[in-house]
Amino acid sequence: MQTDRAADTAKRAAAKAGSHIKERLGHSKIDYKGAFNLVTDVDQASEKMILEILRADFPDDSILAEEGGGSEKKTSRRWLIDPLDGTTNFAHSYPFFAVSIALEVDAEVVVGVVFNPISGELFSAQKGKGAFLNSEPISVSQVPTVNESLLATGFPPDSGNASQNNIAAFAAITHLCHGVRRDGSAALDLCYVASGRLEGFWEFKLAPWDIGAGSLIVREAGGLTTDVDGSPLKLETGHILATNGKIHNEVMQVIERVNAETASKQTQK
Ligand code: IPD
Ligand code: CA
Ligand code: CA
Repeated sequence: MQTDRAADTAKRAAAKAGSHIKERLGHSKIDYKGAFNLVTDVDQASEKMILEILRADFPDDSILAEEGGGSEKKTSRRWLIDPLDGTTNFAHSYPFFAVSIALEVDAEVVVGVVFNPISGELFSAQKGKGAFLNSEPISVSQVPTVNESLLATGFPPDSGNASQNNIAAFAAITHLCHGVRRDGSAALDLCYVASGRLEGFWEFKLAPWDIGAGSLIVREAGGLTTDVDGSPLKLETGHILATNGKIHNEVMQVIERVNAETASKQTQK
């Protein structure tokens, strides 16, 4: 499949939106989608810029975009857009956020682009063609055990109310490895697995726009992506475990055990 043109367009859109995001760091208008769920005028402006570029080049494609500017068409092609992944970080001028753009064809991600406008790092992949950081090929780490690993996870904005709030798994894995980071951008966390900076990342209930691009980048870098229970990854459900492949089963087993313990405590109440 020819994906070069789509990848070029996605990179151009990410660069344009990214430079706007960088300019506006420290000068955005913050609003709330929920008690702790932030959105800024920059999320919206970034989405608008991306959609304009995608629509000019691919007017017949469907678009699913976090801030609601997308449109459905009768086609097997769908773009997944997170115009600013890491909004909470951005709103606090914590410089770890990204633009994430993916293209799905027949429900399979074939192009993924994640751009961090502060570091200038552009992670990208096309199905079957490897993964890249700027123009250099990247690959997952070869670390064989959780004991020797650095991982990342995340929590949804409403995690305080969620029954599966991931705190127990976070605590359990923290005590088994070099550390578990909570850095606030699922798209970048996945790219850090792809580039060998992290051995693994997991999170529950993410959205297709959070993980579409990053999950392809991990696979193309030689890593493994599944649902947290080991079944095939479903972007719509958004439970994801992404690792270098070597520590996958070990992480999965710890999360499974912890979740079973939490569930049994809840039924005893
Ligand atoms: C969030 C980030 C964060 C993750 C949250 C997401 P947003 O996306 O990816 O790392 O833990 O679950 O909602 O809202 O900043 O685009
Ligand atoms: Ca996001
Ligand atoms: Ca977002």
